[in-house]
Amino acid sequence: MCGIVGYVGSRDAASLIYEGLERLEYRGYDSAGLAVISNGRIEVRRDAGKISSLRALLQTSPVEGTIGVGHTRWATHGKPCARNAHPQLGSTGEVAVVHNGIIENYLELQKELAEQGVQFKSETDTEIIVQLVERHLAQGFSLSEAARRVIARLEGAHAIVLISAKEPDRLVVARLGYGGGVTIGIGDGEMFLASDIPAILNHTRQMVFLEPGQYAVIQRDKLEVHLLNGESIPVKVQTVEWESGSADKGTYDHYTLKEINEQPYTIASTIGGRVDFTAGQIRLPELNLTPEKAARIKRIIITACGTAAHAGMVGKILIERIARLPVEVDIASEFRYREPIVDEDTAVIAISQSGETADTLAAMAEARKRKAILWGIVNAIGSQAMRMADGCIPMKAGPEIGVASTKAYIAPLVDLYMLAVLLAEMRGNLEPAQRMTLVRNLYTLPDLVSECVARQSDVQSVAPLLKDIEHCLFMGRGIQMPTAYEGALKLKEISYIHAEGYPAGEMKHGPIALIDREMPVVAIVTRDPWYEKMIGQVEQVKARGGLIIAVATDGDERIPEIADEILWVPDIPWMLSPVTAIIPLQLLAYQTALLRGADVDQPRNLAKSVTVE
Ligand code: F6R
Repeated sequence: MCGIVGYVGSRDAASLIYEGLERLEYRGYDSAGLAVISNGRIEVRRDAGKISSLRALLQTSPVEGTIGVGHTRWATHGKPCARNAHPQLGSTGEVAVVHNGIIENYLELQKELAEQGVQFKSETDTEIIVQLVERHLAQGFSLSEAARRVIARLEGAHAIVLISAKEPDRLVVARLGYGGGVTIGIGDGEMFLASDIPAILNHTRQMVFLEPGQYAVIQRDKLEVHLLNGESIPVKVQTVEWESGSADKGTYDHYTLKEINEQPYTIASTIGGRVDFTAGQIRLPELNLTPEKAARIKRIIITACGTAAHAGMVGKILIERIARLPVEVDIASEFRYREPIVDEDTAVIAISQSGETADTLAAMAEARKRKAILWGIVNAIGSQAMRMADGCIPMKAGPEIGVASTKAYIAPLVDLYMLAVLLAEMRGNLEPAQRMTLVRNLYTLPDLVSECVARQSDVQSVAPLLKDIEHCLFMGRGIQMPTAYEGALKLKEISYIHAEGYPAGEMKHGPIALIDREMPVVAIVTRDPWYEKMIGQVEQVKARGGLIIAVATDGDERIPEIADEILWVPDIPWMLSPVTAIIPLQLLAYQTALLRGADVDQPRNLAKSVTVE
């Protein structure tokens, strides 16, 4: 949830850390700070608010040094203010900590320290870590040993980084449970660390991903990784292929707009190398799927959160239709506590952009415990979800920085489509001609997505209708029901308009009572098997005086007679229609948020990766 950056080397630590934090601000933006060891002392600069406040602080009060840690916060314990910002110092000022996570036994540890006379300077749970570490240092332990002993006492999932003025050549970083990720970047005579790859990608591609239950001691030319019992383990270096430029905003005003515009490339990369259009074949090598495994599967559970779960809902329809396998979609935070019925013939598919969503990781752990076949559809390379899965479909969306997920929504739609075709083929459920058609349908998809992205001016004329409203209803059926959910989620999270997605057939069972001109209804009425039903439902809204904004297929002659406004999308085979239908709704949310003056890339109260429960 919070973003962490660390550096040790020979360059100016503060500027490198600040630059990394800027790239991680999507993870939290309640406050930001950094600590640098400067002339044998720890110097801290931190402030409430966005990272720009930290920049101002560094300009008026610069800090020199070649080792340090930084943090951008999403508050859990203690309100967002400078005192509660990280890094947190202990009583001596000789140790600083940054932390991502929630200490679940915080009250117990706090009481223990208070009884020993500790006066806390903040309301954070994090301060406990540094206070405890200082006590161990006072007993003569090294920083890494003190950290190891303290970490062993913390409950919950955490990423923690410590520096000490007494050992000014090293960072000690630990990861506990499936909380925030820790990536260590290996440079030439310098080392970086960050919660997420984009923060350090412009410095190195050689990365080490810390697993839960590991800690590392990082010096400028040496890296040691240990288990929590102190045992040293081999360092596993991986080369990350993302382009560093893809994490920049480029010429766009917002990451969200950039990422919406990137979607044709997302689809081209998603398909690229995986589809043989001549043979009509799909290849998903990282999934490790064999015909024997495919034949064994009796049912599939897709588990995810938020936008990723909406993608899973589309996947349910695709896999059931194409591969004729029963599929359930389970919200990850529910799945994990429900004693789910899962066995070795169940395939559990976790979908996650970040690959570090705590609920999704916990659901994966639950599936693993119950011996399911465990797959991930994951964007962040090297993330925990990718590493946990038996097989994976890497999303190929590249870094997604805007808090509202856009390109990482459409990528898994296509991944699930390809998976459905592959499963069907391996299970012998698909005639070669059918398979050929399904595969070839993918051929024009990047162009069709490009066409949708290019229609931004259509949306510009509709967004003013939403500017001053308080509520909005999205309705869809069948394969477009998840589009309604996702369209509503986009609008609510970036423009703060209350929006609900609804299965259109359910309207008459309650929500239709809400219809009036003050509450627009966005209806997804594309050409698909539910089209006639949707027309009927839109007529019902119209009959009650509702204001209708339709997403409809080019050339539809009936919709203009019913809808007040239309966002047109190109004609496309219906199983792929959610990929294009969501694009005008992403743009609608974006344009509406702009008109309302909302912070599109960093909506209030949200963070990009939800690494806490
Ligand atoms: C909405 C959004 C969230 C995420 C959810 C899961 O725009 O971004 O709903 O989809 O928090 O995140 P990941 O996919 O990283 O597991």
